[in-house]
Amino acid sequence: MKSYHVNIGAGLDGMVMKEHDMLVPGPREVLVRVRACSLSFRELMILFLGFYPLPVRPDVIPVSDGAGEVVAVGLGVTRVKVGDRVAGTVFPYWLDGPYTRDTAAQLGGSHDGMLTEYALLPEEGVVPIPEHLSFEESAALPCAAVTAWNALTGGLPLLAGDTVLTLGSGGVSLFALQFAKCFGTRVIATTSSEKKAERLKMLGADAVVNYRTTPDWSVAVRELTGGRGVDHVIEVGGPSTIVQSIKATRVLGEVALVGLVTDPKASPDTGVHRATTAGLVTLRSIAVGSRAQFLAMNRAIAVNGLKPIIDRVFPFEEAKAAYQYYQEAQPFGKVIISQS
Ligand SMILES: NC(=O)c1ccc[n+]([C@@H]2O[C@H](COP(=O)([O-])OP(=O)(O)OC[C@H]3O[C@@H](n4cnc5c(N)ncnc54)[C@H](OP(=O)(O)O)[C@@H]3O)[C@@H](O)[C@H]2O)c1
Repeated sequence: MKSYHVNIGAGLDGMVMKEHDMLVPGPREVLVRVRACSLSFRELMILFLGFYPLPVRPDVIPVSDGAGEVVAVGLGVTRVKVGDRVAGTVFPYWLDGPYTRDTAAQLGGSHDGMLTEYALLPEEGVVPIPEHLSFEESAALPCAAVTAWNALTGGLPLLAGDTVLTLGSGGVSLFALQFAKCFGTRVIATTSSEKKAERLKMLGADAVVNYRTTPDWSVAVRELTGGRGVDHVIEVGGPSTIVQSIKATRVLGEVALVGLVTDPKASPDTGVHRATTAGLVTLRSIAVGSRAQFLAMNRAIAVNGLKPIIDRVFPFEEAKAAYQYYQEAQPFGKVIISQS
């Protein structure tokens, strides 16, 4: 079997493919023939930026997100059987309840990931994938979609008629937009181009603000809510956007702290504390989500016939090109590496 291996900060030149003996599942483990995996911002942080908030072990098989079929099970496995279509969960030991450091081992970090032909996972570390989705579509779910689901549903209750603000058109934000529309909410999205604004509207965004041509976008967002502010923000920007996200939020609304696409190494903005306390806003930090949240999300995806947005699919042999494309091409939707 073949797998790619990386070291933190080593770049594409440091990414190598290796051949291994076939893995054999131990007690309560399952062997998955990976059919597709997908890239998220974390893969760019690990490979190119050399910075990631959780441990990344040397020579790890990268990529947290993947889907495939179970081809062998170890002793005592009861949750899945050979032939089942499954996706790995990013935190294979986080089953339910709040996130804890004890269950923080993650695929493509401290645990080998999914950029491989075969992956060995604990039986709790896989979930069945929705029947209407292909392996490529299912591979888009574990990190971006579960994070968006947790950000929307894991804190302040999301009610029909609420207004959700999404930032940019990255993987998490697109899923947040799609889920938010399933809940009957109004979505205001920001983005950097008119072309992407049109695509966001086609996906259901009720209003879109261009954050390049409208640098004070929080003012525009607040105006779009009649001055009240939005109920929920899916905050993926980080240091350069957090203060405006808070300013766009209503009193006692919630900002789900997801990411830092604007500058992962920057210090927190000094205005955050003042804006948060002045606005009486709750900040809630997100760490993807649990197995239970993944299962709940999959029910919503199935009931609503929701399809992940995919920008481009690369073959396994061209994984490096997939990374390069994801980094440079400003895709709209997930970049997938397929083995189908
Ligand atoms: N806490 C967690 O558990 C968790 C889980 C998943 C992801 N994350 C983090 O969440 C962030 C998003 O992840 P992702 O996988 O969705 O990333 P991604 O798909 O790579 O998203 C990139 C997008 O960010 C948008 N963007 C860049 N600068 C922006 C700005 N100033 N304002 C608004 N949007 C901006 C761009 O949208 P436009 O092109 O439309 O402008 C771009 O397409 C990353 O920092 C990632 O590390 C955290």
